[in-house]
Amino acid sequence: MSETLKIAVQKSGRLYEGSMKLLKECGIEVSNGNNQLRVTASNFPIEVFFLRDDDIPEYVQDSVADIGFVGENVAIEKNKEVETIKKLGFGKCRLSIAVPKSGELQSISDLKGKKIATSYPFILSNFLNEKNISASIHEISGSVEIAPRIGLAEAICDLVSSGSTLFTNELKEIETILKSEAILISNKNLSEGKKVILESLLFRLNAVRKAKNNKYVLLNAPNENLNTICKLLPGMKSPTILPLAEEGWSSVHSVISETDFWNIIEQLKANGAQGILVIPIEKMIV
Ligand code: PRP
Ligand code: ZN
Repeated sequence: MSETLKIAVQKSGRLYEGSMKLLKECGIEVSNGNNQLRVTASNFPIEVFFLRDDDIPEYVQDSVADIGFVGENVAIEKNKEVETIKKLGFGKCRLSIAVPKSGELQSISDLKGKKIATSYPFILSNFLNEKNISASIHEISGSVEIAPRIGLAEAICDLVSSGSTLFTNELKEIETILKSEAILISNKNLSEGKKVILESLLFRLNAVRKAKNNKYVLLNAPNENLNTICKLLPGMKSPTILPLAEEGWSSVHSVISETDFWNIIEQLKANGAQGILVIPIEKMIV
């Protein structure tokens, strides 16, 4: 029997949607219709386990799952023997210290002798030690944001994504401890067969990621400026140039990266490019 790779995914919460979407973009069909604990993909040797995100690092360490999609924040907090393979580009958030908006606490030096509620005691105590602040940590597993209001703690250390949880609880951030996003972690002793499946998954993940970071561009260029325009659009190998029916003009096709996109578009226009079309790319294999 050939092997399957067991992947742990958060069963509900901030990373669930993004994780399922990423598998789908990799062409892996997983249907979790009945809220099952585990589902086998129909067209790829992978089995998906739906778990509490906090448990994923330990399950991966102990080979219950082979790999997992998990927040970097959780991976660092749990501090298990797993390998970080790559960042996945979704689920971006930060771990911050926040205090009541109207209180007298203004900066982390005001936390001396105070109580901080958090679900991240490991990361927080490292941070406090590093900054030489002696505060006490009150560990709670959920609804950390209500701790100051019910008198459980003077401050909190929690994840912030949109900021709406802090806003509705009249809290303000005074320090960001960690920036986080979803990452792929792996067990340290995968069998050769599982490594092959992981490689093939990584190949797909990279193609999807690359495609998201690049755009396909088509434009019309006056022939006298073709040279300059081609230099602005190096593409995957070099741009494609096709003559237009109208004399003196060509159609140029290429790929540009999202990061220098606007900058390049401006220069293209300055060099007489017209009818610029920018199209998303679905997969990109170089
Ligand atoms: C985090 C955190 C806040 C909320 C912040 O919980 O504990 O409640 O998200 O997000 P916002 O800034 O967009 O309002 P999370 O969804 O990670 O749940 P979990 O800790 O139970 O996994
Ligand atoms: Zn959680």
